[in-house]
Amino acid sequence: MISGRHRRPVSPVWRFAPVVACWLAVLAVAPSSPPTGRVHDVALFVHLGSMVVGLGAVLLVDWFGLLWLTGRGTLADVLRTAHGAHVPTWAGFAGLMASGLFLGVPADPKAVAVLIVGLNGVYAGRLLSELTRHPEPPTALLLRSAAATLISQLAWWTAVVLGYLNSRGG
Ligand code: HEM
Repeated sequence: MISGRHRRPVSPVWRFAPVVACWLAVLAVAPSSPPTGRVHDVALFVHLGSMVVGLGAVLLVDWFGLLWLTGRGTLADVLRTAHGAHVPTWAGFAGLMASGLFLGVPADPKAVAVLIVGLNGVYAGRLLSELTRHPEPPTALLLRSAAATLISQLAWWTAVVLGYLNSRGG
């Protein structure tokens, strides 16, 4: 049944607000001195497991994107994979934030990289909806998608490398 009610478009501010709010909350609550013993070990295991799930899902989508760019796959394959990867990507990101809550406050550059991963992820979700609506996406939309992919890879790997270096006291 058609209700006759139109959904108002959500303002960009509200779309990004949950990520910013979670990020601020995690940084505010995370302990400034790292925990030791069992809490640390379990949190670190969950942290690394969540990274495998989140970054793994992102890498799979980007790999399908590469196959499409090199003529060995279709855009439909990329979009189908991206839709399927939505839940593991966000579950991994949520797991990283939740476990980070027990590990301690990350260094500022890593915290910024984590925020960029989250904000860019929300933006990429919007792009995916737009791409799904266009059987032949306009060049500008493809360029925005390429930029979001690049930013996603840079931000994820910055967080990985800085997390690794910081944990070694570097
Ligand atoms: C995209 C999100 C994130 C990624 C990819 C990431 C990645 C990593 C990696 C690779 C390590 C190194 C682990 C090791 O060498 O054993 C690490 C450690 C750490 N991370 Fe994250 N992290 C993320 C988010 C967070 C968040 C949100 C927090 C805190 C609020 C956090 C806090 C920490 C801490 C304190 C360590 C050091 C743990 C230790 O070795 O004692 N991380 N992270």
